[in-house]
Amino acid sequence: STAPATPPAKPAASDTLLLGVATSLTGGQATFGVSTRNGIQLAIKEANEAGGVKGKKLEARVYDDQGRPEEAAQAVTRLIDQDKVVLILGDVASSNSLAMAQKAQPAGVPMITPSSTNPAVTEIGDYIFRVCFIDPFQGFVMAKFARENLKFSKVAVLQDNKSAYSIGLTDVFTRKFTEMGGKITGVESYSQGDTDYRAQLTAIKKTQPEAIYVPGYYSEVGVIARQARELGLKVPMLGGDGWDSEKLYELGGTAIQGSYFSNHYSPDNPDPRIQKFVADYKAAYGSVPDALAALAYDAANVAIDALKKAPDTSGKSIRDVIAQTKNFPGIAGAITLDEKRNAVKPAVVLKVGDGKAEYVTTVSP
Ligand code: PHE
Repeated sequence: STAPATPPAKPAASDTLLLGVATSLTGGQATFGVSTRNGIQLAIKEANEAGGVKGKKLEARVYDDQGRPEEAAQAVTRLIDQDKVVLILGDVASSNSLAMAQKAQPAGVPMITPSSTNPAVTEIGDYIFRVCFIDPFQGFVMAKFARENLKFSKVAVLQDNKSAYSIGLTDVFTRKFTEMGGKITGVESYSQGDTDYRAQLTAIKKTQPEAIYVPGYYSEVGVIARQARELGLKVPMLGGDGWDSEKLYELGGTAIQGSYFSNHYSPDNPDPRIQKFVADYKAAYGSVPDALAALAYDAANVAIDALKKAPDTSGKSIRDVIAQTKNFPGIAGAITLDEKRNAVKPAVVLKVGDGKAEYVTTVSP
């Protein structure tokens, strides 16, 4: 026999179901992507050990989007056209997930973002889901905490104007904090990747706030905290889930201690199911799982459950099953998807200490 003139394209082996992942393994959001990949791979390993799905083994095809929306969109196109994945998981930063959803939706391939909280992501269409809460809730949580628990009445805001997430949270926080009787003393902006925030911090200092809300990502927030202290701005900073990275403590040092942020889960939760996940993750990767890892593990498990329950592996069948998700036992809270394909669940507030964040309180929707 002779070899075929044109070698066939390389689809997944027939005994494998491929899940596509696009996330930020390098760049300013690198820890987000690494935790996300780890959480997904832990869930896949467990599912394969338990016999796989529909007689097949699961495998993740992971592409690094470098934290850039254009790369994220390209990765999804490749996952769909070339790798023929049955479903897509990712990304973390909302701006990347927005670009991904714009490719997944018209192709009819279901996508679950573990951790993107900007409302517009799932509004792109009925194939796009998330297993986390959205920013109108997260912004409310910190406004309420600042006003009622910390009793602040004057807060300034420093937003990242390159991030859909940061712009959205700024909007909600300023609206809610004002509604609760607080005053926003000023709103300043930076662009992701900037390294000098002194001009904005100097302007903020003049408004004499009791705190600064900085809804950005850890790479910038850590540096902002240091420069604020250098300028004699000693008030605490407040933030959202984008602070969640072990790099925050390294970059921010003592300058970030005593500041607060909202998040999806605390690894200190004594629930035995959570502690088992923390122990398994530590054994596999040598670090404490952050919220990204927990949400990625949850998103992968929702996907795997849907693949098991769906009558076949068409995008439509998988989509229809995911849409029915109710009371799914996630690590970062139980997952019930509403008619807008968003999860409705509590948030935690954490306080930055020495090298880690301490649990303060839980706020329910
Ligand atoms: N919620 C952030 C976004 O939408 C991403 C994020 C989630 C970052 C959880 C850290 C932890 O951009």
